Amino acid sequence: MTDAVIDAVELELKGDILVAIVDNPPVNALSHGVRAGLVAAVDRLEKDGDARAMVIVCAGRTFMAGADIREFGKPMKDPQLGHVIDRLDACDKPIVAAMHGTALGGGLEVALACSYRIADADARFGLPEVTLGLLPGSGGIVRTPRLIGVEAALPMITEGRPITADHAQKTGLIDEIATGDLRQDAVAFAARIVAEGATLRRTSDLPVPDYDRAILDQARKSLSRKFKGQNAPQQAVDLIEMVSDTPFRDAADREFAACKALVASPQSKALRHVFAAERAALKIDGVTRDTQPREVRKVAVVGPGTMGRGIAICFLDVGLPVVLIGNTQETLDKADTVIRKIYGGQIKRGRLTEAQVADRMAALTLTLDYDGLDGVDLAIEAVTEDMDVKKTVLSKLDKALHDRAIIATNTSFLDIETLASSLSRPENFSGMHFFNPANVMKLLENVRASKTAPDVLATMTTIGRKLGKTPVMVGRSEGFVANRMLSKRSREAQFLLEDGATPQQVDRVLTGFGFPIGPFALADLAGMDIMAAARQARIGGMTQRERDCDIVNQLAAAGRLGRKTGSGYYLYDEDGKGQPDPAVEEILAAHRTKRGLPQRDITDQEILERCLYAMVNEGAHLLDEGGAARPGDIDVIWTSGFGWPRHLGGPMFWADQIGLASIKDALDTYCGLVGDEYFTPANLIETRVAEGRGFFD
Ligand code: COA
Repeated sequence: MTDAVIDAVELELKGDILVAIVDNPPVNALSHGVRAGLVAAVDRLEKDGDARAMVIVCAGRTFMAGADIREFGKPMKDPQLGHVIDRLDACDKPIVAAMHGTALGGGLEVALACSYRIADADARFGLPEVTLGLLPGSGGIVRTPRLIGVEAALPMITEGRPITADHAQKTGLIDEIATGDLRQDAVAFAARIVAEGATLRRTSDLPVPDYDRAILDQARKSLSRKFKGQNAPQQAVDLIEMVSDTPFRDAADREFAACKALVASPQSKALRHVFAAERAALKIDGVTRDTQPREVRKVAVVGPGTMGRGIAICFLDVGLPVVLIGNTQETLDKADTVIRKIYGGQIKRGRLTEAQVADRMAALTLTLDYDGLDGVDLAIEAVTEDMDVKKTVLSKLDKALHDRAIIATNTSFLDIETLASSLSRPENFSGMHFFNPANVMKLLENVRASKTAPDVLATMTTIGRKLGKTPVMVGRSEGFVANRMLSKRSREAQFLLEDGATPQQVDRVLTGFGFPIGPFALADLAGMDIMAAARQARIGGMTQRERDCDIVNQLAAAGRLGRKTGSGYYLYDEDGKGQPDPAVEEILAAHRTKRGLPQRDITDQEILERCLYAMVNEGAHLLDEGGAARPGDIDVIWTSGFGWPRHLGGPMFWADQIGLASIKDALDTYCGLVGDEYFTPANLIETRVAEGRGFFD
């Protein structure tokens, strides 16, 4: 029976064990009420002669998932987390943390300050602060290495990598895995240690075990690649080194100061923005808590080409049977070979076993007709990007599938409403825009049409998450969000070559900004023939200058197809290393002369602004048109799919940091320099600037 409720913590005395139950839905974040409740629980434990030990356990779906992110940036009310941790550490009676779900960040730090830790077998433990541009500032860095050694602690602290209960027990992070009900087992555990006269075990009393210091430099190197441009992971390594040489109290103070300084850093603000935007993107207009997603038990994919094959793999990977429909036996045979090859690669890399691949292949049916679609709840067409071809496929699916089956298109630029109009049940229709390679790319643009039913919208999001993707719902627009914004960046990159920049200069500026690869190195990777075909597909909508800017075609015609032919925008040596090529300079110079374009020196600033402000402006156009629901959705699309550095928050967040007024001024300048048709500010930018607001105010 509960005998006290202090803020968000209930207290119960079970025999001589005090049980503190933290209850702060949804994830038991360490909000003020939890912190105050935990301090009160320690007060009670220390004063109550009947209580000889305490168990801290959480109600709901998880143990404490860390500091309350919503409190960041606001004045933090006492008691601070550090005080809670100090009280737990200093308590003269044993305290047992009983963990289920995910013990993260401050939640794990609470547990580390207890004498003992017990957990459910499927619990996970992590210090994800670096992923938010922060550091564990309440003992995570000073205690974890003491408990499990620096080598095991490094990936947890510097990469935010969580560990399983099994791993945690092996390394010594937890003492026991519960075999029955966690709370009962934890109380029994506490009673046992009390009966056995257990002494207090303070992690703060332990030394940091010796380790090979070379692992710190190795970590620094690998982190600079994995978290390019991010400060927190590097600082985490520095702090681990400091902790190894500094007495506990002093080290804890320095850890806290370093974390506190990061809370206000631009990188952390940006990373926290992306965290919140990713969650907000899952909330879909028209879908309520009561909207039940439809069940998807079997999937059909039409079109066994590159996209169709990748999409089929996505579903096979999560255990759903797939019917892959093709036009000819030849394309189906090729699909079978390619899918087996992809899976073969995964076996080689140790990611899958032969048996797992056999199960997946057994769940794949390759067929030439639409007769075997009984039980298919979702069909995705991934056929040629041609309106008539797609309409024919959609009506075949319409006839072959049951009334509640969802039909989706993987179109990347055809009009979603025109496609919907070819169906007898347009409410069952939606877009699912996968990106190549579909089985690898995390981004999924789900596309709503005007008649798409709310439960279909909900299913698109649920299924996207089930596939391990980042699903974002977008609206009707040409090219949707990612490709349309990318096309503006590509346009400016091409125009900049005409104006006098070199491919290497543009690539250097954009990789310097934080993109993993520049647009021209990327084009060489994709292949100039592919780039030329993509350009041809869009030529109808191009301006005269864009049509005339045919550098891609010239390179393709010269046999410079990119990496696969050893030359494209760059010249590649045998090791695949690209070098600037004077031959490209000549092609560009001849092109400029032919077009009568004067060459001028282009500054890095102009490159950055023209490429990125063009994207921001297009994002604003998409918001004006309803092609995207929220600026945060655009940021999620760009940080999850298209290499926008996460620590810069996505294009719309970044634009707000620069200030929309400055961006508008620059857009006005480029209207004069490049043309109104390319840089006229979107209405949204005009109105926000007039109101003195940004995209997110
Ligand atoms: N503080 C405040 N709110 C939090 C939170 C935190 N630390 N962690 C999660 N939430 C909120 C989410 O914003 C979401 O709110 P919403 O329903 O209003 O959108 C809700 O809790 C559920 O989170 P969600 O991520 O959708 O649930 P999940 O079950 O998929 O994942 C976690 C749960 C805990 C694994 C995940 O939320 C997470 O990783 N949280 C961050 C943990 C962290 O970084 N802690 C260290 C902070 S310094």
